[in-house]
Amino acid sequence: MSEKKRILTGITTSGIAHLGNYVGAIRPAIQSIQNNDDEAFFFLADLHALIKCQDPVAVHNSTKAITATWLACGLDPERVTFYRQSDITEILELAWVLNCNCAKGLMNRAHAYKAQVDINNTTPGLDPDFGISMGLFGYPVLMAADILMFNATHVPVGKDQIQHIEMARDIAGTFNFKYCTKDNPLFVLPNAMIDDDTPLLTGLDGRKMSKSYHNTIPLFGEDPNIDGEKALKKAIMRIVTNSQLPEEPKNPDDSTIFEIYKAFATPNEIAKFRTRFATGIGWGEAKEILFNKINDEIAPFRKRYADLMANPKEMEEILQFGANKARYESRKRLAKIRKAVGIKPLAKLK
Ligand code: TRP
Repeated sequence: MSEKKRILTGITTSGIAHLGNYVGAIRPAIQSIQNNDDEAFFFLADLHALIKCQDPVAVHNSTKAITATWLACGLDPERVTFYRQSDITEILELAWVLNCNCAKGLMNRAHAYKAQVDINNTTPGLDPDFGISMGLFGYPVLMAADILMFNATHVPVGKDQIQHIEMARDIAGTFNFKYCTKDNPLFVLPNAMIDDDTPLLTGLDGRKMSKSYHNTIPLFGEDPNIDGEKALKKAIMRIVTNSQLPEEPKNPDDSTIFEIYKAFATPNEIAKFRTRFATGIGWGEAKEILFNKINDEIAPFRKRYADLMANPKEMEEILQFGANKARYESRKRLAKIRKAVGIKPLAKLK
């Protein structure tokens, strides 16, 4: 099999991107494929979004905003095969084939599912299956189909997703063993790619920045009609600080402002900011410095984001361009998979 890396990652289309998504996923993913010739597949996991969100307007709006975000931040659709999961219907067919070859017991161990069962079991009066759809239960199988459809070798993900990559390996191995000869496996076993240097951002309240904690700083602002720069400033001003006076020396390692600054500044700038904390800096000024730092990096993307949001046709064309590239592969591979499991024409018709 080829030596070349094939990188693939999915972006669940729920909500809008926040600064944590930017420094933890968007920026490293786009940088990781610069200056090399690795193949890259990035896709919008809108079918995965349906598991958590059954509001059609929200699903649609989020797909639009997240597509615009990645393109505005520099994703080059010529370099990357950039597509929407639901456009590649072969993935769903593969997911079914994998479902039929995946032990239920393996899925019982999936942590997103288990977490829900644990809540149900410890809440008096709740059925153990409360709030669990077949979509949630089978989530790792759909994710395996996303990965195996394109024989990805490397999958950049957050730590919370490692288990799903292991499950994809497991499922691929079982399939190869059952249906393929040893020297001709259909699926490559994917590897999780975890970058320990990617910062985990702290949110407004000092906990990890996360949609579920409602403590995020939106990357481009929630409302396209409100000036994104003002929105960013407003959000930064809401970062919770302690009640120390401006002239008091402060502990940078205990400060959300400093924590976020580190994700945007050079080592030199970080050292300088650290000194300012030691000699006393007012929280207002520290926030101002943080705002300018972040804004310098993302202001150039903001205009492109607004243009794309105002022009969904351009985005749709880009997504169809990506879908065509992706389908070229998924059709070929699905034909082989069908054949391997015994689904093929009874005879050749002229
Ligand atoms: N489940 C992933 C997440 O929530 C998104 C995703 C869907 C994904 N399919 C994928 C990531 C395939 C990598 C590969 O982050």
